[in-house]
Amino acid sequence: MNPEQARAERPGGGCFISFEGIDGAGKSSHVDWLAERCRQAGREVIVTREPGGTPLGERLRELVLNEPMAAQTELLLVFAARNEHLEGLIRPALARGCVVICDRFTDSTYAYQGGGRGLPLAWIEALEQAVQGGLQPVRTYLFDLPADLAAQRRAAARAADRFEAEDVAFFERVRAAYARRAGVGGGRFRTIDSRQSIETIRQFIQEDIKSLITTS
Ligand SMILES: Nc1ncnc2c1ncn2[C@@H]1O[C@H](COP(=O)(O)OP(=O)(O)OP(=O)(O)O)[C@@H](O)[C@H]1O
Ligand SMILES: [Mg+2]
Repeated sequence: MNPEQARAERPGGGCFISFEGIDGAGKSSHVDWLAERCRQAGREVIVTREPGGTPLGERLRELVLNEPMAAQTELLLVFAARNEHLEGLIRPALARGCVVICDRFTDSTYAYQGGGRGLPLAWIEALEQAVQGGLQPVRTYLFDLPADLAAQRRAAARAADRFEAEDVAFFERVRAAYARRAGVGGGRFRTIDSRQSIETIRQFIQEDIKSLITTS
């Protein structure tokens, strides 16, 4: 990455990090820990999630996760929530130099509404361009786990929402779509084998994130 690209991806010195992976893959288990690491490194940190992250976005999240709807409606609602999120929280936080850690972002849309629901990639690409312009996370941790193992982990955790109620085949399609995203996503992806222990995963992230959060 040349310096100009680096500046474009880190507006105002901010650092945009996303966590991705199928339901139960282990994303949320590391979010608060990473935020604390970044604070210890002297950074201001915003922890947020999608869909959600703003008052309206959280109301849209409730609908998307619980209300029966057409797949196209689902796609439009997650981008509506994302637009609010970018305008109200993410862009302002990056502009003042924060680390923004987001539990799911647009790769989830490619994986769930694209891979899982089968909506055309061209629709997602058009909405992504309209809502984000060129903004992308500078680092995306993709937690990869076979769908049957993720289902076992979820079963212990809590009641299922509309996505979590889907079968193993759905989640294997989502997982495959994530792998395709990582394949075309350039250097921002780090795919993590979630069968590893939480401790091993944290050691990897801690080492990997150093150069991105160090202020100079
Ligand atoms: N590396 C790991 N090894 C074993 N168990 C794990 C690991 N990471 C997370 N878990 C457990 O798996 C369950 C799901 O983890 P977590 O909630 O972090 O997943 P998630 O990807 O955030 O899921 P969701 O998308 O549904 O929010 C939790 O009970 C968590 O304790
Ligand atoms: Mg989670």
